[in-house]
Amino acid sequence: MSVTRLSRDPKRQLGQYFTPDTTAAAIVREVPLSPDSRILEPSFGKGAFIFPVVETLASALTPDEFRDWCQNNLYGCEIDAAAYDAFGDIWRARGFGPVPANLEVCDFFTWLPPSCDRTAAIDPRRYSPCALEQFDLIIGNPPFGGSIEPCLQDPLDAIFGVRNGKKIKKETYAFFIVKSGDLLKPGGTLVFICSDTLLTIPTMTGLRLLLQSYCDVRISEVPGTFSDTNQDMLLLTVTKQHRASPHITVFGKAIPLAEIEVTPNASWRVDTDMARYFGGGTLGDKMVATSGMTIGKNSLFVRQITNGLIEEPYDFALCEQKITVEHELARARLGKISNRRLQRLREMEAGGVTEKAIKWSSRETAMRVALPHPDYRDYNKACSQIIYSDPEWVVFWRDDGEYVYRFKKTGKWYLHGVGGKRYFGREGLSWALIASRLYARYLPAGYILDSGAPCAFLREGVEYDELFFILGWALTDLCNMILKKVLNHTRNIQSKDFERLPYPFWVQRSAKQQAVDILKMLLQRARTGERFSFKSEEVRALNRLYEWHDVKGAKRTQRRGAPRQLSFF
Ligand SMILES: C[S@@+](CC[C@H](N)C(=O)[O-])C[C@H]1O[C@@H](n2cnc3c(N)ncnc32)[C@H](O)[C@@H]1O
Repeated sequence: MSVTRLSRDPKRQLGQYFTPDTTAAAIVREVPLSPDSRILEPSFGKGAFIFPVVETLASALTPDEFRDWCQNNLYGCEIDAAAYDAFGDIWRARGFGPVPANLEVCDFFTWLPPSCDRTAAIDPRRYSPCALEQFDLIIGNPPFGGSIEPCLQDPLDAIFGVRNGKKIKKETYAFFIVKSGDLLKPGGTLVFICSDTLLTIPTMTGLRLLLQSYCDVRISEVPGTFSDTNQDMLLLTVTKQHRASPHITVFGKAIPLAEIEVTPNASWRVDTDMARYFGGGTLGDKMVATSGMTIGKNSLFVRQITNGLIEEPYDFALCEQKITVEHELARARLGKISNRRLQRLREMEAGGVTEKAIKWSSRETAMRVALPHPDYRDYNKACSQIIYSDPEWVVFWRDDGEYVYRFKKTGKWYLHGVGGKRYFGREGLSWALIASRLYARYLPAGYILDSGAPCAFLREGVEYDELFFILGWALTDLCNMILKKVLNHTRNIQSKDFERLPYPFWVQRSAKQQAVDILKMLLQRARTGERFSFKSEEVRALNRLYEWHDVKGAKRTQRRGAPRQLSFF
């Protein structure tokens, strides 16, 4: 979690998007509530879920029983004192008396039920999920994209960051779900509104695998609409049972775990039709994909080409820059530096030690540079052209990129490395990172790579023609349907998403050769100026070539092993 993320506006930092009362009430109407239920709302905001729960129970109990129930069975956390106060005002205005002691203004991540030793909440050696199973119902709308206190990030990562050997993303909603799962009694139910990224996004693969390993999982639509956030939401209902069910239910359809587990991202959007495409390996077996580099300030180094010329507004030079503690702290991860390094930095500062950096100044008039030029290299930025695009950008690359590398190394960020460096210059494929489908095109050798346009390169030993066969596949509707439906339905198409795409093993040899020949011909035409789009007849014709055919000997969708009884660590 970056320092920038920790300096966003407070509402975003808290992931504070309140649930409309009607939505919360509709959800509560569907959950089993009884006077014996022990209930937790781990981030209750102004009480959208608590009030309908409490009102349901108030009508089923005598006033004394109700008071006892509130004191003994109702638990909640809310980190924001203003939201907590607003909740308290409503609580009292509705005549429920004083706010129950177990509804606390606190951070859910440092909280444990009052019967537990709370210091264990952030102590990886003493946090023990088995001791926490206390709640029949955990309900709410946990913060999405919120920030975790810097000092808690590492201990929480040690507690929740890996389950069943799989990574759980350090994301507030993911950690809320994992911790709430720990707090559920066997047979207890968790009902959360959460981001629909849960369904396919690769970084949530570990969370999906965890939930389906020990819970009955149901995904349904959230009743009503949210005006407060653009994020698409879903309703996650899980019942803890300490074993896997044979399937999960997504929008009313049962998906066998066997089909989910055949997809590389454990997709909750797969179905029988889609699962068969994953029976013969992935593109990652043939190609390695990478994101390119994030310079940090493209306007400093990247120039648009017009008629073979660029305009250079800056003059660059290398210089020596003093090492200071202040500068190093400003760019350290979470603003933290170990004592040893701090000591070393103080010594360097006192000794006037310097490091190589770059400086630049604006020219009075921009310098016109004719391309090609030894100081510039073609730069692969995202574009919406398919099959091929002439170079549109160059990057200032004097001394083999030394100036850009120095800028990255000495800038105010803690990641000083350069993504995709070892693939710079290689021939491959590329596409736009943010797009509704793969705008795939051939990438000639020689380019420096930008992070907005991920790329893929043939693995060693893979036949050259695969480049064209895979380019053709990436342009088909089927490939894009699998990508956006099963692998990652968000607008980002990361390098790993490309690697996870199924390799079209079902395409027969003659159709494959035909596809390769067509792609080579289309590339040639595109290089001489012809433009293609997804509406072009030649591109639409590719769909036929890559259509599904039953293949003898293709692997059937199989679960890797029988349902397991899984422990939490
Ligand atoms: C999406 S809002 C939902 C609030 C409420 N559950 C509702 O449905 O209206 C998330 C809430 O989580 C709170 N929150 C964020 N981080 C928290 C944390 N670490 N512990 C407890 N509450 C937190 C925010 O202040 C916000 O009120």
